[in-house]
Amino acid sequence: MEINLMTKVWSVDNSVEKTVEKLRSCTQIVDAASLLREGAVVAFPTETVYGLGANALSDEAVEKIFQAKGRPSDNPLIVHIGAIEQLSAVAVEVPEKGKKLMKAFWPGPLTIILPKTDRVAPLVTAGLDSVGVRMPDHPIALAIIEEAGVPIAAPSANRSGRPSPTTAAHVLSDLDGRVAGVLDGGATGVGVESTVIDVTVDPPIVLRPGGITREQMEAVIGSVDLDPSFQVGAVEIPRAPGMKYTHYAPRGELWLVTGEAAKVREKMAEMLREAKAHGQKTGVLASDESFSFWTAQPEADVVLSVGSPTDLEKVAQQLYAVLREFDDRQTQYIVGETFSRDGLGMAVMNRLEKAAGGRILSV
Ligand code: TXA
Ligand code: MG
Repeated sequence: MEINLMTKVWSVDNSVEKTVEKLRSCTQIVDAASLLREGAVVAFPTETVYGLGANALSDEAVEKIFQAKGRPSDNPLIVHIGAIEQLSAVAVEVPEKGKKLMKAFWPGPLTIILPKTDRVAPLVTAGLDSVGVRMPDHPIALAIIEEAGVPIAAPSANRSGRPSPTTAAHVLSDLDGRVAGVLDGGATGVGVESTVIDVTVDPPIVLRPGGITREQMEAVIGSVDLDPSFQVGAVEIPRAPGMKYTHYAPRGELWLVTGEAAKVREKMAEMLREAKAHGQKTGVLASDESFSFWTAQPEADVVLSVGSPTDLEKVAQQLYAVLREFDDRQTQYIVGETFSRDGLGMAVMNRLEKAAGGRILSV
């Protein structure tokens, strides 16, 4: 559907130390918050990725998020709170392990699934009787939520299927003219979305790996299960590209190659040569360590590094921006290396596998 809005852009400089209290009186925050209260959709930075916010208690407001993103309405949204006092508006009770997790990791990149109240707009939860809640660790996010005075439903501020936005420019490239405004607070820090954990079951189960690792949570509440859907390792036979569930995906066709380093390089080079022979513009999702090797190969047109496997935090931070840069440079066929699944690596590999839509080769 056609949406034709004048998207406002408010720049907020939070490089100088600003408290949530001070930010709440900035005109940009006051403006954006009043739009949210009126039922409009506004994008804002969080510590993970930019979110696309609307009043979580209003179906009419939340409907606009789905329209702007082109998101299927059976995928529930995360509700963001600015202070612990807002929790009772959205969740009826918090199991003991949930309380411990909040105490340890809020504000922070952890979304906790809880039994919902009747006040939460039905569209937010896609008809489920549970709701995902988090308190983001970003002064601008906290300020706008507090100033709006209502819990804010906010998925990542990208068009459905695209890599999540880690800058305001990414948001505008997907949603200019489709949302009321964007608060520009610079690049986000964590780079991948929050971890989603369901504490309505025991042991709690991780539904999406993210900024808080399984190891960190287990140190606080003991054993935590993983949803089987993201434990998939490399598959021998690539799934038919037509079967892909595109998510976080660049426009070009991304393939991941995993295995012993020398063999991986050999296979990637062979794939690139073949793609070039078919007239495609090729790309390599490289690491700092392999970057100069690939830039020296004539079959690789665009070589971008996501960082070093020894610094997975940096890889998480840069991943989506790199996927988007392949698009900006019209890359049609991309091959990439894989990373360890330890710590943040689990979130990184989960996003990479989704971006590749199951196109993973094991050599
Ligand atoms: O870091 C983040 O979490 C970002 C920023 C903006 O806060 N938000 C984000 O939202 O990633 P979104 O909508 O792109 O992802 C929401 C995830 C989806 O995987 C959804 O299925 C899951 O949370 N989710 C939400 N509510 C749920 C529920 N009640 N039960 C199970 N899964 C739920
Ligand atoms: Mg998303």
